[in-house]
Amino acid sequence: MYNTKQITNDLHWVGANDRRISLFEGVYDVPLGVSYNSYLILDDKTVLLDTVDKAVSHQFFENVAHILNGRNLDYLIINHMEPDHCAEIENLVNKYPNIKIVCNTKTQTMLGQFFDFEIPNEQFVIVKEGDTLETGKHKFTFVMAPMVHWPEVMVTYDTTDKILFSADAFGSFGAIDGNIFADEVDFDHRYMDEARRYYTNIVGKYGPQVQMLLKKAQGLDIEMICPLHGYVWRKDLNVFIDKYQKWSVYEPEIQSVLIPYTSVYGNTQNCAEILAGELAKLGVKDIKMYDASVTHPSYIVSDAFKYSHIVFATTTYNMGIFVNMENLLNDLTAHNIQNRKIAVIENGSWAITAGNLITEIVSKWKNTEIIGNKITVKSSVKQTQREELETLAKEIVRTISE
Ligand code: FEO
Repeated sequence: MYNTKQITNDLHWVGANDRRISLFEGVYDVPLGVSYNSYLILDDKTVLLDTVDKAVSHQFFENVAHILNGRNLDYLIINHMEPDHCAEIENLVNKYPNIKIVCNTKTQTMLGQFFDFEIPNEQFVIVKEGDTLETGKHKFTFVMAPMVHWPEVMVTYDTTDKILFSADAFGSFGAIDGNIFADEVDFDHRYMDEARRYYTNIVGKYGPQVQMLLKKAQGLDIEMICPLHGYVWRKDLNVFIDKYQKWSVYEPEIQSVLIPYTSVYGNTQNCAEILAGELAKLGVKDIKMYDASVTHPSYIVSDAFKYSHIVFATTTYNMGIFVNMENLLNDLTAHNIQNRKIAVIENGSWAITAGNLITEIVSKWKNTEIIGNKITVKSSVKQTQREELETLAKEIVRTISE
């Protein structure tokens, strides 16, 4: 049975939620689920913006048919060719064989890569930066947004109602729980962490490209943002845009300390706990610790974009960095983390190598400074290392106050 949501007089959400997905993109757990947003506009012509993941195709087609109410579907605008949004294009074309496909040349190439079905050339409307499409009352402009998140990505601006269909940008993990607008839910408490985790892990690597899109968006009079995942924004757009501004230039949101650690027998955790306690004594608020063997890296990557300081505490393992910490460090490197202050704590009972190896990795991160002396623990914390941890806490606090 259909389940659609009205956004404006003639704009409808025809997407669907998935709360049973085990791993988004085969990598990320999504405890709040995920929505696949598709939008349908009833104008002189009917216009669908993107489709959905195959997991929710049945709901999607019921929704589209309900809103069309017997009308034909005239246009499909493809903003993004990742299969969580393009999976139903072939089925859509089979169902509405005269549909015109509005996309750019890169998208057209990807259509051929993902699908085997043929669409006659005359059914393509190939667009480039600044091209427009009029469908009656509505006039759409197309803005290329390469690498936010894939090379073919574009966003579509409805100049009539001042709505930006923003593709992956301004999306969030988390299903849409009944309401459709971000201002109808306690977004900050319920969703902002998941929005950050979505941004940092999905698009975080592409900060400069997101910056380019933000600059283009500044030239548009935007009253509403319709992303491909999560809630629609119609109020306080600047709250979310400001977050994107910070995240895309790798500027920390808070001056505080994130401490990811791994600990085989508890001694490295002991270091991390002592340091966190000393920082707290010195007045640092909102310190955050993770056992990187317990928490998926996507959560730690997300907080790494939020915190100004990161202390890595780990053991030497197989003459290298403990496997789950190495995995986290590689993930942070892959997501282009930069502009941070870092401290390092290593442990080992013999031939300790982890600290220097971490320093090697971190020293390649842009605009990143290693602060304090590396602390080396041999098996367990002794009074000497406790004093070193106290000194490191003071040094961290000094740089927080700078
Ligand atoms: Fe939700 Fe890049 O796709």
